[in-house]
Amino acid sequence: MTTQGKFQAPRGTRDLLPADQPRWSWATRTMEELAREYGYGRIQTPGFEDTELFRRTAGAGSDIVQKEMYTFEDLGGRSLTLRPEGTAPICRAYVEHGMHREPQPVKLFTVATMYRYDKPQKGRYREHTQWSVEAIGSDDPALDAELLQVYHELLRRLGVTQWELLLNSIGDGQCRPGYLERLNEWLDAHEHVLDDEARQKRATSPLRVFDVKSERVQAALADAPKIGDSLCAECRDHFADVRGYLDAYAIPYRIVPTLVRGLDYYTRTTFEYVGPEGGKASALAGGGRYDGLVEEIGGPPTPGIGFGAGVDRLMLALENEALGPEPPAVDVFFVLHDDAPREPVLRAMADLRRRGFACDTDYAGRSVKGQVTLANRRRARHIVEVISPAEVILRARGASDYTAPLEDVLSRVQL
Ligand code: HAM
Repeated sequence: MTTQGKFQAPRGTRDLLPADQPRWSWATRTMEELAREYGYGRIQTPGFEDTELFRRTAGAGSDIVQKEMYTFEDLGGRSLTLRPEGTAPICRAYVEHGMHREPQPVKLFTVATMYRYDKPQKGRYREHTQWSVEAIGSDDPALDAELLQVYHELLRRLGVTQWELLLNSIGDGQCRPGYLERLNEWLDAHEHVLDDEARQKRATSPLRVFDVKSERVQAALADAPKIGDSLCAECRDHFADVRGYLDAYAIPYRIVPTLVRGLDYYTRTTFEYVGPEGGKASALAGGGRYDGLVEEIGGPPTPGIGFGAGVDRLMLALENEALGPEPPAVDVFFVLHDDAPREPVLRAMADLRRRGFACDTDYAGRSVKGQVTLANRRRARHIVEVISPAEVILRARGASDYTAPLEDVLSRVQL
């Protein structure tokens, strides 16, 4: 973290500077607007949880549990883990606060930082921010489609055009065991095409072999049986309904029979919105159903569905398509000549700010020319040049200059 005595942000983390903020707040504000319109209430859970919560729900064989958790023991000897994902904590809160007694589904969202000891690269960080959107307590396929439409609507409102929705159903406790048997038989017969990573994934969770990095193994797996062909009647009907509702929303998607997610809690619908670059770090959002998760952490049997959308990845997509608001301009910049008293100007600024104007002046002893340059850099909508309180020039873009006493000039400043 230090090079030659200088500190740097820890590897895999980033500073979000003022220049990044307009785009960031535009995106998160739009997420909050959507949450309100679709009936999702904000929830904030702690930044760390009991380690066991993630171990039990993400799955012992998941990358998260195997190599990515920031786990530590606190001074009281408890094992805690910085939140690597948002769904298990939200379901924990759902159970802990008895939300199953409220009208179902309970729709919750959060925008929060997540921590994974991932290999840092563009779009992949050790601290990232996720918009986590969860609808708990209904297995209605129309809810799956609505949730998919929420993210689609976010992309539409922000103007992002380069994306693709990948969709799959990975079955449930009824049909998946039979499928896994067939998959295992195929894997036994094709042991020679697997590499170490595939063997390792297979040992912990056979479905996850489809997640291997090697293109050679991926190509060989094209012939392996896919869960889509083994769905039970209920899962098949549910998936058909989800697709029908997506068609009603006119949301295009591609069925990817090998789309398995990196966490163990998923059932039935799984999906990813991916960006233009392809590859692992391009997923803008990912999620699916988790009909057994609430029960697994001690609640009553409760279906649920949700997604996590990376805000950092969305920023890259926005930059890529040059989308985003202009940096904020200052409304009024005061330029003072040498002899001009500062007191009336400071009072005037406080007064204007109270009326909602963004104001500023020079605090570095610049010449009049230097002050005007600074005002222009700040894209000032009005420049108020104070020669003396009785002689003040108001300059506004697209209007002729106006010279009058300070009070008079201030009354002409409009938002
Ligand atoms: P996930 O696919 O692991 O799912 O993460 C969701 C999204 O978070 C990804 O699609 C990506 O945009 C972003 N993301 C993940 N890891 C990183 C990283 N290291 N750096 C930057 N962005 C990242 C989940 O976490 C589930 N909890 C999603 C969910 C909610 N499923 C149901 N409900």
